[in-house]
Amino acid sequence: MDTDSPFECRWGILATGWIATVFTKDLLLPPRARGVSDITHTVAAAASSSSLSRAQEFLSSVNAPATAVAYDSYTALVTDPRVDVVYVATPHSHHFANCLLALQAEKHVVCEKPFTVNASQLEILIRVARGKKRFLMEAVWTRFFPLAREVGRIVREGTIGEVRRVNAELNLCQHPEVTYADGNHRMVNPDLAGGALLDLGLYPLTWVFMTLYHTLPPFEKPTSAPAVIGTISRFEATGVDAENVVVLTFPRSIGVASSGIRVASDPQTAIRICGTKGEIQVQHPAYRPESYTLIKDGEATRKEFPIPGGGHGMFWEADEAARAIRDGKLECNECPVEESLLLMKAMDKVRLDNGFRYPEAIEKTDY
Ligand SMILES: NC(=O)c1ccc[n+]([C@@H]2O[C@H](COP(=O)([O-])OP(=O)(O)OC[C@H]3O[C@@H](n4cnc5c(N)ncnc54)[C@H](OP(=O)(O)O)[C@@H]3O)[C@@H](O)[C@H]2O)c1
Repeated sequence: MDTDSPFECRWGILATGWIATVFTKDLLLPPRARGVSDITHTVAAAASSSSLSRAQEFLSSVNAPATAVAYDSYTALVTDPRVDVVYVATPHSHHFANCLLALQAEKHVVCEKPFTVNASQLEILIRVARGKKRFLMEAVWTRFFPLAREVGRIVREGTIGEVRRVNAELNLCQHPEVTYADGNHRMVNPDLAGGALLDLGLYPLTWVFMTLYHTLPPFEKPTSAPAVIGTISRFEATGVDAENVVVLTFPRSIGVASSGIRVASDPQTAIRICGTKGEIQVQHPAYRPESYTLIKDGEATRKEFPIPGGGHGMFWEADEAARAIRDGKLECNECPVEESLLLMKAMDKVRLDNGFRYPEAIEKTDY
């Protein structure tokens, strides 16, 4: 084998909705446009649960290679031997079953956020993936942005002193009664595990974990999960949460993560990472950060991170997943399953304390 040739990662796309389209288009952009030469991606197949024609339309809409195969079932996709890794892009409610299907077919898995409906489901996925020695990752693309890596480095280097508090938020400024009038959309549909916490809250929570947990050296990592309290307000029409605030207490720091469907966002500051010598503010939106401001010694310095190559910014997570798979790793350093699990447990706690449970059909673990 030519060791200088890039590793080709062959993806199977499970579902054909909005994010599957965005991700797959990013996947097919030339890696060199973002300075990557050690790996390439190809789409080997895509599957729709609704019809073969939907899968065919999907492949043509993303300009997939002519060799890509369209399937009318997820089972057919995960059994295709030309697929190395399955990207799961169904609604939250379906992630657990779809990931299990792919893992049991011996595929590596990258699953859209939130990983599952609850932590018990995720624990099962982790156990199955480890047992089968398959790569498993939640597709929290934000963690792979160059900006997020740089902010992590600044925090680690102590430039803003010791980070004692992080405030992070993500809001949509929508009128759910109008935007989601029939209540069917996955944002507000309890049958699809809708609501602000699981859909949006994951991002502010991710910033809290990235800056207060992920940046710590292993010997300083707390041995127990952070204490979590949270409160929610409901979207009356369907009963899911419309707004929430979550407070996480770590041994030496506090994180406050909030998200909402209705309220507006401050365009200037989505995240405040507050240290003893200064702070970093990341501009909105929390999920797709393209600029931050470092405030120190009375000066504010802003730095921009435009996304290269005409993409959406989802290729970085795909690149790291491909490298991990190439190197035989079972998870990714930037987005370890242990942190996904801690975050899932935090969301479980908030829902439990607020009496917010989804229908049993999607909370259950006995698929
Ligand atoms: N990373 C991000 O920034 C980001 C952004 C948006 C969404 N997401 C995540 O991606 C996932 C999908 O979101 P989306 O906006 O792409 O949703 P979407 O447009 O509604 O697409 C979901 C797809 O899942 C499949 N599906 C299977 N069973 C379904 C069911 N019972 N109801 C609806 N769809 C079903 C459908 O494809 P087939 O019929 O072809 O199988 C559908 O097109 C969610 O977990 C969401 O949180 C992530």
